[in-house]
Amino acid sequence: MIIAPSLLAADFTRFGKEAARVDRSGADWLHLDVMDGHFVPNISFGPKVVEQIRPLVRIPFDVHLMCSRPQVLIEPFARAGANQIQIHVELGDPVTALLWKIKSLNRKVGLAVNPPTAIGMIQPYLEQIDTLLIMTVNPGFGGQEFIHESLPKIAQAAAWRRQKNLGFHICVDGGVDFKTAAECARAGADAFVSGTALFRQTNMKAAVARLRKIVQANDPALADLKV
Ligand code: DX5
Ligand code: ZN
Repeated sequence: MIIAPSLLAADFTRFGKEAARVDRSGADWLHLDVMDGHFVPNISFGPKVVEQIRPLVRIPFDVHLMCSRPQVLIEPFARAGANQIQIHVELGDPVTALLWKIKSLNRKVGLAVNPPTAIGMIQPYLEQIDTLLIMTVNPGFGGQEFIHESLPKIAQAAAWRRQKNLGFHICVDGGVDFKTAAECARAGADAFVSGTALFRQTNMKAAVARLRKIVQANDPALADLKV
């Protein structure tokens, strides 16, 4: 189970301190939301921020590119210290080349799918990815409400993963809190991006531990073992 706090919910005047707080929390990845004001109606931060916080954090950097032209951003983010780079399946034709580009830079590869996009769109890429990022809100802003219609997509992805004997992570992103994380885990998710729910806690370490316990308790693989 992977817990990935999203820096989008941090205090933007204190990126360094907030990133270090995530590092000390026992989380597994730091999730970094990159928005270009075109693919989504918001702008967040660029490679310079990622480069400057990289030495302050030991855990892997998971860079989520919500951008129309990731081809111009993959190399700068790889250089800035990204360990995994995720692009969106909604980009269409360029997806295959973009996945190979990320792989050729020796970074982990992620593919994200928006709530209105059919899960079938990601099927051709399952063998090529390390992480499938199922958006559980429409991307662009933190603090939105979890979209429950995403749960069957998680279950479908988990079924394909089992049938094809693949090992990619099924990661959920958007409106993930202690309650919705449990629902996602039950559906088959094993990685959890959470911004608002974790950053609003004074004790992030306790919150990460609590979230981890909740998702582990709802892991269907472990439930099978108990029977
Ligand atoms: C949404 C971003 C998410 C966001 C999640 O556009 O991709 O990663 O930060 O934030 P919360 O957990 O607040 O919904
Ligand atoms: Zn994200």
